[in-house]
Amino acid sequence: MKSFCSNALKPNHSIQNPPRSFLSSTNRCLLQRPNWVSFANNPRCAFPRSDCVYRATSEPLTGVERVRDDDDAVAVADVGSETGGLRRKKLAAFVSGGGSNFRAIHEACLAGLVHGDVAVLVTNKGGCGGAAYARESGIPVIVFPRTKDEPDGLFASDLVAALRDYEIDFILLAGYLKLIPTELIRAYPRHILNIHPSLLPAFGGKGYYGMKVHNAIIASGARFSGPTIHFVDEHYDTGRILAQRVVPVLATDTAEDLAARVLTEEHRVYVEVTNALCEERIVWREDGVPLIQSKGNPGQYE
Ligand code: GRF
Repeated sequence: MKSFCSNALKPNHSIQNPPRSFLSSTNRCLLQRPNWVSFANNPRCAFPRSDCVYRATSEPLTGVERVRDDDDAVAVADVGSETGGLRRKKLAAFVSGGGSNFRAIHEACLAGLVHGDVAVLVTNKGGCGGAAYARESGIPVIVFPRTKDEPDGLFASDLVAALRDYEIDFILLAGYLKLIPTELIRAYPRHILNIHPSLLPAFGGKGYYGMKVHNAIIASGARFSGPTIHFVDEHYDTGRILAQRVVPVLATDTAEDLAARVLTEEHRVYVEVTNALCEERIVWREDGVPLIQSKGNPGQYE
């Protein structure tokens, strides 16, 4: 049986295919307001409009059956009819640590809750928990960047080429602690998301990571916290906000208590947002704010 993922990097990283999301001419986001644009109509599309033609894909859209490396057949729900025949998207997850958000998204993909698949994991720490889980799950691992400790890591230009080689549609940062190079942001404009464990713009920016965030929130006296998902720009935690969830900060909370409560919400919201991304339900208001179109009610945005 054909293996869905290979553990090895694909050999030729020089292929410069644009991410396929740019190739869909069908605007599934049903523009309800004239000045809101979907990814398909994005004027900042990095590739010429003449490239934006619909191409049939060889990927089956209904009744998909995929095979894991351990040869356990995984039947994926037939979501083709619910998603209007949209192609499943290919995702790259970027992780530096345990990777519980990456796991939540990967499991949701396998369960048919996300109309896409994690096609590759990128990490700056080849030995981290997220990388170990990826290898066990048959997801290829790319180490980035190249450093003294990680001499097999890729340079930025090679990373971009590798992601294009894998035909990655969207990049999901999930606890990746390095700044994303400009080269990658330019290659994937408005196609990179990050999750941060506070209600941005509060408690974000350089130095706010891990327990430092939750300690600062408790020390400030804030009564509410929660995860933020935002698009990624050249700076830490400043890109446009796409989604937030609120949790209470209790009087007796330790930073660990708060972190655990926020993390539970992170897993839920990142899965929901990733599915909206894969189903092309993100639209851009004319002032540049991204919105999520409701699945049940296409006239409603959050
Ligand atoms: C999460 O709290 C996320 O918000 C932040 O890094 C942490 C990653 O956790 N960016 P995990 O590796 O997904 O468990």
